[in-house]
Amino acid sequence: MNRTFTMIKPDAVENGHIGAILEKINAAGFSIAAMKLTKLSKSDAEKFYEIHSERPFYRELVNYMSSGPIVAAILEKDNAVNNFRTLIGSTNPAEAAEGTIRKLFATSISANAIHGSDSDENANLEGEFFFSLDERF
Ligand code: CMP
Repeated sequence: MNRTFTMIKPDAVENGHIGAILEKINAAGFSIAAMKLTKLSKSDAEKFYEIHSERPFYRELVNYMSSGPIVAAILEKDNAVNNFRTLIGSTNPAEAAEGTIRKLFATSISANAIHGSDSDENANLEGEFFFSLDERF
């Protein structure tokens, strides 16, 4: 079993898609190892996305991700990182495959409904960013 980290982003929370997205995650065979509804401060979002700090969209990304509540979670499944990225679809929802979470629920490349870690190493770091040891099961 491997783990990945996800956030249901402010657009999807605001549009009432938490339940539908969690159903898709469950139906795809992921189990939940940690979960919370929370909100990133601007400085939290700056830290979380530091890897993108030189990108032209960094400020927009930080402002957007700190604009409202999110659901953060650690998920478990075989080959979790890759399987989850397949389930959520391409970063740009216009390019996301039919049936993927982003195709169904995202509105734009920045408001793209959901995050999925891009490696086992980042999944670990990102999970630790949000959850203390006694919040992970
Ligand atoms: P995610 O992969 O979850 O984390 C990095 C985010 O940066 C990504 O989702 C997008 O929401 C955002 N992003 C990536 N490329 C662009 C872009 N060209 N313009 C705006 N936002 C972007």
